[in-house]
Amino acid sequence: MLLRQETPADREAIHAVHLAAFAKHSVPVVEAKLVDELRADGDLIGALSIVAERDGKIAGHVCCSPSRLGTDEKSTVGLGPLGVLPEYHAAGIGSALMHAVLGAADALGYGAVVLLGDPKYYSRFGFVLAAQHGITPPVAEWTTAFQVRTLSAYTPELRGEFRYSPAFDRL
Ligand SMILES: CC(C)(COP(=O)(O)OP(=O)(O)OC[C@H]1O[C@@H](n2cnc3c(N)ncnc32)[C@H](O)[C@@H]1OP(=O)(O)O)[C@@H](O)C(=O)NCCC(=O)NCCS
Repeated sequence: MLLRQETPADREAIHAVHLAAFAKHSVPVVEAKLVDELRADGDLIGALSIVAERDGKIAGHVCCSPSRLGTDEKSTVGLGPLGVLPEYHAAGIGSALMHAVLGAADALGYGAVVLLGDPKYYSRFGFVLAAQHGITPPVAEWTTAFQVRTLSAYTPELRGEFRYSPAFDRL
């Protein structure tokens, strides 16, 4: 497996990965479209948009975008989507992408990564419920799935209401 930043040549393959990964979800196109819209808005952080290559093709992708936490607009990122082609599930690709993106976010000096997802999966990467750190979701119903992974530069002042990049609000 090769992990690397996305390049312009990967765009269609990334879209296809998310369409296939989320095929069983109610509206699979949403996640694929979200990546395209984040990129079009200039809100896909290049160093945090990582693909996994396997057998010469893009088998997985994860990305992060800028976010706001309380009044802070530079210390946290929103993670998502994360997707792996179904035929490659349970082969360690999702985990490799998560470790790579968290390491890169830490190296870039961010204080925390925030996401909405299944705690049963993300807890293995050090995510805890965001409420434990005083971080609240933009939609109250998300609270039980809204998580944060603190990084080296985290300080307890990083708290308050979290807002994703505008593309998330257009979903
Ligand atoms: C979630 C996803 C990215 C995991 O990718 P992956 O490459 O299969 O993950 P890994 O091989 O690193 O890890 C597989 C492990 O995660 C577990 N897992 C996968 N999804 C899970 C979930 N929603 N809840 C709990 N565990 C989950 C698997 O059971 C497996 O467990 P094991 O390590 O005990 O065998 C992939 O299943 C996927 O693309 N799913 C559809 C899209 C999606 O749901 N994305 C996340 C949105 S929150």
